[in-house]
Amino acid sequence: MTLASFLTDTNFKTVLYMVAFAMFIYGLSGLTGPKTAVRGNRIAAAGMVIAVVTTLLVGDFNNVVLIVAGLVVGTAIAVPAAQKVKMTAMPQMVALFNGVGGGAVALIAWAEFRSTEAFGLEPTYVAIFSIFSAIIGSVSFWGSNVAFAKLQELIDGKPRTLGKLQLPAQVLTLGGAIGYGVAIIAGADNELFIVGLLVAAGVFGLLLVLPIGGADMPVVISLLNAFTGLAAAAAGVSLNNPALIVAGMIVGASGTILTQQMAVAMNRTITSVIVGGFGGSVEAAAGATGAGGGTVRSTSASDVAIQMAYARQVVVVPGYGMAVSQAQHAVREMAKLLEAKGVEVKYAIHPVAGRMPGHMNVLLAEADVPYEQLKEMDDINGEFPRTDVSIVIGANDVTNPDARTKADSPIYGMPILNVDESQSIIVLKRSMSSGYAGIDNPLFVNPKTSMLFGDAKGSITEVTEELKAL
Ligand code: TAP
Repeated sequence: MTLASFLTDTNFKTVLYMVAFAMFIYGLSGLTGPKTAVRGNRIAAAGMVIAVVTTLLVGDFNNVVLIVAGLVVGTAIAVPAAQKVKMTAMPQMVALFNGVGGGAVALIAWAEFRSTEAFGLEPTYVAIFSIFSAIIGSVSFWGSNVAFAKLQELIDGKPRTLGKLQLPAQVLTLGGAIGYGVAIIAGADNELFIVGLLVAAGVFGLLLVLPIGGADMPVVISLLNAFTGLAAAAAGVSLNNPALIVAGMIVGASGTILTQQMAVAMNRTITSVIVGGFGGSVEAAAGATGAGGGTVRSTSASDVAIQMAYARQVVVVPGYGMAVSQAQHAVREMAKLLEAKGVEVKYAIHPVAGRMPGHMNVLLAEADVPYEQLKEMDDINGEFPRTDVSIVIGANDVTNPDARTKADSPIYGMPILNVDESQSIIVLKRSMSSGYAGIDNPLFVNPKTSMLFGDAKGSITEVTEELKAL
């Protein structure tokens, strides 16, 4: 057997694919904890390289130059973009990359249509899977682009609908895409049918995501990610490529679980996110009044420093505002000083604090906060009554006691960090504006609470200077 025939042998290809699948799954299991996440990501990426190379080894491609050029251009764009992206811009980058995946799958279906005489040379099931991947891929591409544009503020985050025409327009476009698909499966071979299908599905994708407020986008992105995975898996069935099926199903399954977990942690259903509810618009949230009446006590950096320096235990409660102001390094600096003074410092991590899963863990890990100081909600909640000072840094909804007590609150039932049970609470934010949910937070008028107004990073830096002087 020559080297060339060995490399292109089907059994060799199967073995390589199986190695790649094992690496995907092993890598994914590494993502369950911050200590193993980076390694897990690298292992899964190496698995993907093996899968791509295997596909290239055995495929009979008629334009290798074009494929290599595509790989080079894609790598040249993606690597610097991923390296430079700020943590706060990560959700929109995921949206963009996810959208590209959906678009690629839709284009593959179109190419298959052309090269197989409108699937006439293929069994019917191949046509069905190809049509499925074309519709879902196109929805995901256009939907993800809207999600990206909203989060990047290229278009404003407000929900946009056609009013009464919204539902009919959605039904018409989705129905149109399915209609074109059925016609193709039944034998229609005019290229306008597949183009019509892609356009109708694309318009449906726009109509699906435009009505959703900018702040709900992380959940929508995760959902579209699951869509792209399913579309890729369907393309894998059409192309008889097991790597695409396995990778697509992993993305589909993990995207679905993630979407579900985000929705549960926000105490919402996925349907309510799609149909719209609270958090409809970033602007609306920023304009709300904050505490809903009551006396607000503001404090100074020096008072905060004194209070914390003489505490036994301080719990840091980070939220979206810490990400916005990029205060994580300043927070770590402050915590080191407190620890040097004998104060025990812990960090309370809410599962949906910030705007993406694991947002706070990533930021704090970036600032070298020891993992053992990061406490999940269930672990830290019992500790608040014996915490002398809780310092809330740009967190709002995840500390809102209305979630426990006010049955008509939009976040009623959402599990929260029981910060209000601490002996004393300090809240760092710029104003009395509300957070993502756009609702008042009675924590801010709790008699035990003092507000330190200003950008979180600036405030923490001032407190740190005061601590140094003590
Ligand atoms: P939010 O409730 O959104 O509150 C963030 C607060 O940070 C705001 O009230 C804002 O007040 C303050 N802030 C903004 N910039 C600041 C800065 N530079 N310095 C200081 N403070 C600043 O955040 P949270 O408590 O982290 O809750 C997250 C919310 O997002 C939840 O409602 C959750 O359901 C939702 N959500 C989360 C996710 C994921 S997966 N994490 C996904 C979608 C939605 P000022 O404007 O007054 O400063």
